[in-house]
Amino acid sequence: MTRDVLVTGGAGYIGSVIVDQLIELGWGVVVADNLSRGHRAAIAPQATFVHTDVGDRAAVSALLRDRPVEAIIHLAAFALVAESVREPAKYRANNVTAARVLLECAVAAGIRRFVFSSSCAVYGHPARVPITEDSAPAPVNPYGETKRDAERLLAEFGERDGLASVSLRYFNAAGATASRGEDHDPETHLIPNVLGVARDGGDGVEVFGTDYPTLDGTAVRDYIHVADIADAHVRALDVPLDGLGPLALNLGTGTGHSVRDVVAAARAITGAPLPILARPRRPGDPPALVAAMGRAAATLGWRPVRSSLDDILRSAWDWHQSHPRGYRG
Ligand SMILES: NC(=O)c1ccc[n+]([C@@H]2O[C@H](COP(=O)([O-])OP(=O)(O)OC[C@H]3O[C@@H](n4cnc5c(N)ncnc54)[C@H](O)[C@@H]3O)[C@@H](O)[C@H]2O)c1
Repeated sequence: MTRDVLVTGGAGYIGSVIVDQLIELGWGVVVADNLSRGHRAAIAPQATFVHTDVGDRAAVSALLRDRPVEAIIHLAAFALVAESVREPAKYRANNVTAARVLLECAVAAGIRRFVFSSSCAVYGHPARVPITEDSAPAPVNPYGETKRDAERLLAEFGERDGLASVSLRYFNAAGATASRGEDHDPETHLIPNVLGVARDGGDGVEVFGTDYPTLDGTAVRDYIHVADIADAHVRALDVPLDGLGPLALNLGTGTGHSVRDVVAAARAITGAPLPILARPRRPGDPPALVAAMGRAAATLGWRPVRSSLDDILRSAWDWHQSHPRGYRG
């Protein structure tokens, strides 16, 4: 019998790639998404789509009654740091309260395995880089707080209800596959914005902070290809359940790239001049976020294979050119 996985947020950037990989591997896939931020066209036609909010208890319970769902991959959330600062209650409601409803429905339906989209935002301004999973969570914005609190919920459900969970703390998701790419509005991520300037022109690339204590003064981040992130989720479905408590794993490469590195690599790939427009630092942006790798490799047998800066930028640039209006045509 086909085993089903429920992917919440499967119409979004990362979820759509996870759905494609699951289908390729023969899983049955149900996508639950309210399309508040995602795109119907990003969902593989082989998946069953349920247009619902994950906080809608009646709809989620009915879905779990109707389908033989064995595991849940939960990506549905709001994920814009600046918006979370302006509207913290909205983030708490969507990222924590709705997650609790989903978890209660999961436990009631007898589901034991839960894979959660967490974030390096749980670490805040870490004292040590590379950051290990044992660094104490200390988020510095409401978005990061909601991810920490959702992880705490998972611990609570694990202890009380025996739910086994893997929280995957992604660093900076980037890159594209041939058919899926990044189409956010507003777009706050560096790479699609740089490629947007390369494609559409403009004065240059706004760089927020050129006086950080890093080698070239710009912020350093750990970019991880969306297909590598998806692969880790697929592997998390096969970790033996026995003895699997709430587990947190970093998903990064262990290598940081500065904003200037990214812009230079984008110049080489696109041929666009991409002048840098220096802007002040954004509040809450740490100088460097780089993952200590090892635990995900040991637990999942996972290694990033598509996450060189060149692979990330080339794949994203191909998608930008083949989808000039994103999923709108
Ligand atoms: N993009 C990154 O670099 C990054 C890094 C770390 C963690 N994450 C996390 O990964 C997940 C996916 O990120 P993304 O970049 O693909 O975001 P995205 O906005 O592209 O996708 C999120 C999807 O969830 C849906 N959604 C939101 N709230 C919902 C709700 N209450 N009910 C049903 N559907 C809902 C949206 O419509 C959207 O399709 C998020 O949880 C995000 O916090 C992303």
